[in-house]
Amino acid sequence: MIVLGIESSCDETAVALLQGNKSTFRVLSSGMATQQAIHTRYGGVVPEVAARNHIAAIIPLVKKTLGSRIPDCIAVTAGPGLITSLLVGVHTARALAYIYKKQLVRVNHIEGHIYSNWFSSTGIRFPALALIVSGGHTELILMKGHGLYKKVGATLDDAAGEAFDKAAKIMDLGYPGGPAIAQRAKYGDPKAIPLPIPMLHSHDFRFSFSGLKTAVLYCIRDKKKQKIYSDAMRDDICASFQHSVVTVLVKKTCAAAQRYKVKSVLLGGGVAANLALRESLTNAVSTVPGKSLLAIAPLHYCTDNAAMIALAGYFRAKEKKFVSPLRCDANPAWELPSMKDAHDYYNPR
Ligand code: KG4
Ligand code: ZN
Repeated sequence: MIVLGIESSCDETAVALLQGNKSTFRVLSSGMATQQAIHTRYGGVVPEVAARNHIAAIIPLVKKTLGSRIPDCIAVTAGPGLITSLLVGVHTARALAYIYKKQLVRVNHIEGHIYSNWFSSTGIRFPALALIVSGGHTELILMKGHGLYKKVGATLDDAAGEAFDKAAKIMDLGYPGGPAIAQRAKYGDPKAIPLPIPMLHSHDFRFSFSGLKTAVLYCIRDKKKQKIYSDAMRDDICASFQHSVVTVLVKKTCAAAQRYKVKSVLLGGGVAANLALRESLTNAVSTVPGKSLLAIAPLHYCTDNAAMIALAGYFRAKEKKFVSPLRCDANPAWELPSMKDAHDYYNPR
């Protein structure tokens, strides 16, 4: 089955053509129009600007990605995300499905990040636990089967990626902040300037990152007052910040993996591109009793992309979870379905 995936939930317009056959997946072609350079100026994504750029980019991308091929099915991110951005992808997908008379599936963006792990492993078994860490989400999701999710943990405030972005803004490191902080952290000492590790001992699967960002703000303000703030100190703060985020993510993921006796642990979302997190989770999962398999999304499929949407769409299409082009809508606050309402979820009334 050949699936055309379309992603436009934030500031990347992405289109990919994927060939799926049971557990083998091949990306036939893909295209991406990134708006990072535009939004860097503002220190974050400006929704109206993002939507206008999606409109300009999407049709040429679809044309280039498809070439002369016609997909069997179209999968589109229908939420969560910025409504003005989502609508561009959803309406494009609706039009394509209508014109080509092909089946259409709605994909939840988080679900796409979860399924990006199927690119790196064909041996994923259920129950699986996915840590999804991105600019908008920090969630631990228990997955009992394809399309069957239960959120077992989440952030109470900022997402991990959002914390990276805000801390980077405080340190004038530009947007997106994650890669910039990770780069500086390589030169810093994580122990030189200790920062809090929020909720580390809370005995639950909740996270909180807004206090950590404020700790960075106060730390820098104090160092500047004392006139001892330097580039080297900024590198230490980056290393310490990254250490705090990674430590709490890894500890709670392993605790949840043990608690739910999972067979696989998955890692996806933009922050999954963080090498310290990948390394630390790899080491920690190997010590969890029960020998869970760890799958980590390939680096180039961690941040937003359309191949992961096509892959999640492939599994939905196999289950015949189609939606009529005229009824396919975008939902900016679309939650992953709990196990019992999985059917209604893919078939909005
Ligand atoms: O998944 P994604 O592309 O978009 C959302 O769905 O939000 O994630 C983007 C987030 C940004 O907050 C960015 O700073 C973060 O992922 N990120 C990283 C790294 N690369 C991207 N965070 C930490 N380390 C990285 N290497
Ligand atoms: Zn994302």
